[in-house]
Amino acid sequence: MEDFQEHFMGQEEFNDGDKPLLSPFNPPFRPTRLHIQRSSICSRAYFVVVMVFFHVYILNVIGLLLYVHYNNGPGDLVSRDGATSASVGDSGSPLPHTAAASPSGELHVEDYSQSYSLPRIEGIRVGHVQQVSLVPDKTHEMRTISLKPLLFEIPGFLSEEECRVVVQLAQLKGLMESQTTVPSQGQEESNQPLLSLSTEEVFSLLDLNQDGLLQKQEIVSHSRSRDGTWLSPDSLRQILTGVEDCPTGMLTLGDFRRVYDVSQRTGQQKSRKLLSQFKQRSKHTWLYQGQGSHHVLHTLRNRIISLTRLPSALVELSEPLQVIRYEHGDFSNAHHDSSPSHSETTCTHTRLAGNTSALTEVSCRYLTMLFYLSSVEEGGETTFPVADNRTYEEHALVQDGVDLTDTQETCGRGNLRMKPTAGTALLWYNHLSDGRGWMGELDEYSLHGDCPVRRGVKWVANSWVNVDPDHQQQARYQRLVAQRHQAKSGMEEHYQPLSHSDLHQDL
Ligand SMILES: *[C@@H]1O[C@H](CO)[C@@H](O)[C@H](O)[C@H]1NC(C)=O
Ligand SMILES: *[C@@H]1O[C@H](CO)[C@@H](O)[C@H](O)[C@H]1NC(C)=O
Repeated sequence: MEDFQEHFMGQEEFNDGDKPLLSPFNPPFRPTRLHIQRSSICSRAYFVVVMVFFHVYILNVIGLLLYVHYNNGPGDLVSRDGATSASVGDSGSPLPHTAAASPSGELHVEDYSQSYSLPRIEGIRVGHVQQVSLVPDKTHEMRTISLKPLLFEIPGFLSEEECRVVVQLAQLKGLMESQTTVPSQGQEESNQPLLSLSTEEVFSLLDLNQDGLLQKQEIVSHSRSRDGTWLSPDSLRQILTGVEDCPTGMLTLGDFRRVYDVSQRTGQQKSRKLLSQFKQRSKHTWLYQGQGSHHVLHTLRNRIISLTRLPSALVELSEPLQVIRYEHGDFSNAHHDSSPSHSETTCTHTRLAGNTSALTEVSCRYLTMLFYLSSVEEGGETTFPVADNRTYEEHALVQDGVDLTDTQETCGRGNLRMKPTAGTALLWYNHLSDGRGWMGELDEYSLHGDCPVRRGVKWVANSWVNVDPDHQQQARYQRLVAQRHQAKSGMEEHYQPLSHSDLHQDL
C-alpha cells in the first residue's frame, strides 16, 4: 500500500518536471530505481521512437495496399495474353467461383461487381481548363465546353503529321459512300440495298475464313460492323437461326440459299423514330487499331486510354476507328451515337456473350472521341443543338416548322457549334453514370450532327468506347474474348473469328 503510494507520488514528482521533491519517508534507493523506469518508458525520446516506428509501419501497410490495388486494378480485367484461368469454361454461368483461385494479377471475377467501374472526367464548369499529359514532353489543355452533355475540347490532340497519316490510311483502305443514292462500290459496309449483290457474293463476304461454310461465329462477327452497313440485325438473326437449326452448325452455300433470300432484303429497318429520319451524306471507312496496325493508329488509341482513364481492355475491344470525309454540301443530321437501354435490346458488341434470340441489337457507346483531321474553310461545324439546354423534350426538337435535327436547315439555331480545326479532339459522354460507377442512361443532350460543308473538305475520325449497360454481360463478353485469344495462341491453324483483327486485318 505504502509502496504504491510512493510509486504514485514518484510519478507526480516526475510530471512536475524532474524536481527532486523527495519525501522524507522514502528510503534513499527508491527514487533512483524509479528514475530508471521513468526514463525508459515515459521519456519523450522513447515516445518519439515508438511513434516513428508506428508511422513507418502504417505507411508500409498503406503502400502495400496501394501496390496490391494497382496490380489487380480494373485495367487488368482481361489479362493481355489471355491467361484467364480455367474459370472461363462456361460462358452462361454467372460469375464462376473458381476464378478467385487464380494466381494474383489475373482475372478476379468475384471482385468484378464491386471493383469494376468506369471513370468519368470532371467537367467542373463550362470554360474550366485542365492540363492533361498524353505524350512525353508536352501537356495538353482540355477545356470543358458543356456539361449537358459532358463535352471537352482538346486542341492539338493530334499533330499535323498524324492527321495526314490517318487521312492517307483511310484513302489507302478506300472510302465507302454513307449515302443511299450513289452506286455501291461492292464494299462490305456500303449502305446499298443487297439487291446489288448476288447470293454468292454475300455468302463469300460473310464467310470470313473462306472455307466455304458459314459458322455461327462468322455471323456474330458481322454484327460488329453493323453501323450503316448492309446487313440489318434482322437479316443476321435470320441467318443465325438457320445456322443454329442446321445439325452440323454450319451452312453451305446451298443451305444459305434456303435460309436467306438475298433479293428480299432492300435495306435496313430502323427501330427508333429519330433514326428513321436520320439522313447523312459523306464517305467513310474503318481502320483497325490493334496489334499490327499503323503506329499512329496505335498511339492514338493509347492516348484515348490515358485521357479517359478507362480500362484498356474496354478501349481495345471497342469498334475500329471510323474515318469520314465530308465534301461540299455533305452533312449528317443530328443523332445520338449510342442507344437507350431497354429490356428488349441488346448491345451489338457483346452479343456473342448473350442471348442470340429475338432481341434488337443496338450500338452501346459510352463515349465518343471525335478528331478533326482537317480544318474547314466554311461550314462543317459539329452542332450540338440542345447542349446545356435547360430541358430536353424530344417533341420540342420539331416546333413551328423548325426541325432542330435537320442540320441542312437549322444548323444556325442550335445551342452549340464547334468549328473543325485540324488536330483538335472532342470528347463527350453519350451516357450518364448509373450512380454506382457503371454506365447509366443515354444522355439525350448528346444529340449532335454535322453542318453542311460550304468550302473545303472536312475529314474527321470517330473513336467509340463500347460498354454494355449490363456489366455482367460486359464481363462475360470480355472473358469470352480472353478465352478466344488463349485458344488462338494455343492452336494457330484453327480459325478463331471474334476480334476485330479478323474483320480488319488489312489495315
Ligand atoms: C434469353 O432470352 C430469353 C427471352 O428473353 C430469356 O428467357 C432467357 O433467360 C435468356 N437467356 C440468357 C442466358 O440470358
Ligand atoms: C430548351 O430549353 C427551353 C427552355 O427550357 C425549352 O423551352 C425548349 O423546349 C428546350 N428545347 C428542347 C429541344 O427541349
